[in-house]
Amino acid sequence: MIMFYFSGTGNSKYIAELFCEKTDARCYSIEESFDFEEIINAEETLAFCYPVYMSRVPRIMREFAASHMESLKNKKIIIFCTQMLLSGDGARAFAALFPRGHVNVIYAEHFFMPNNVSNSFIVPMASERLVKKYIRKSQRRMKNACENIKTGKIKKRGFNVFSQMLGFFQAPFLPWLERKANRYVKITDDCTKCGICVSCCPTKNLVCESDALTHKNNCTMCCRCLNKCPKKAISPVFYGKVKKQYIFKV
Ligand SMILES: Cc1cc2nc3c(=O)[nH]c(=O)nc-3n(C[C@H](O)[C@H](O)[C@H](O)COP(=O)(O)O)c2cc1C
Ligand code: SF4
Ligand code: SF4
Repeated sequence: MIMFYFSGTGNSKYIAELFCEKTDARCYSIEESFDFEEIINAEETLAFCYPVYMSRVPRIMREFAASHMESLKNKKIIIFCTQMLLSGDGARAFAALFPRGHVNVIYAEHFFMPNNVSNSFIVPMASERLVKKYIRKSQRRMKNACENIKTGKIKKRGFNVFSQMLGFFQAPFLPWLERKANRYVKITDDCTKCGICVSCCPTKNLVCESDALTHKNNCTMCCRCLNKCPKKAISPVFYGKVKKQYIFKV
């Protein structure tokens, strides 16, 4: 089995790797440059893991699915999403990227993980104790998921009517948020042009040219730069003052 994941700040990477550890699946970040077509063609079952943004799939993951649309036809797929609180139908949203019947979803699960949005006053950052609690709970959920998958039990979290209703209310905000994030990235005078954010941005959105940090209208809202900047000088998507940065650790 193969696992493809996208992770802005480590939560989804942790879940993807936990799954691979338990199932001997091979794990690939979609940011890596492999011949993914060849890898997909050789497998019958593929797993995907990503963070939920407004009950939907991050743009970088949507683009990955679109670029491998043909090779994913008739594959069995497993979907894992990470979320901080409410993910609605975040897993179903991935299946909905394909035409009806194109893929066969055999399992879908959501995992509660810590908040990584450290520049919005609305969502609090989790304490160390709470982070540990999230991890323990996710480990238990993954153990169950792996046992279910092994025994052929089908479960599709996020596909029920209640989840879809929640998604229905949250999802319309995503295109608006994506447009906003593409238009503007807040960079303060504290920026030392160290280049850390430039090298970690998954979409190469940030550029340091003639001693100025600018962006190329290509933000996938992952919050990686926000949480890695040593000066707390960059604030994408929500633009608030940077609080305690989120660094994933078990
Ligand atoms: C732009 C954005 C939107 C988000 N929207 C939601 C959401 O609708 N519901 C939720 O529970 N978590 C939401 N989150 C939180 C993340 O899904 C969560 O922290 C996730 O585990 C981060 O995973 P990562 O570390 O792999 O990037 C959002 C995060 C970002 C950056
Ligand atoms: S990581 Fe921070 S200080 Fe370094 S270039 Fe980016 S915004 Fe500037
Ligand atoms: S600019 Fe920042 S938030 Fe946007 S994609 Fe790059 S690293 Fe992620």
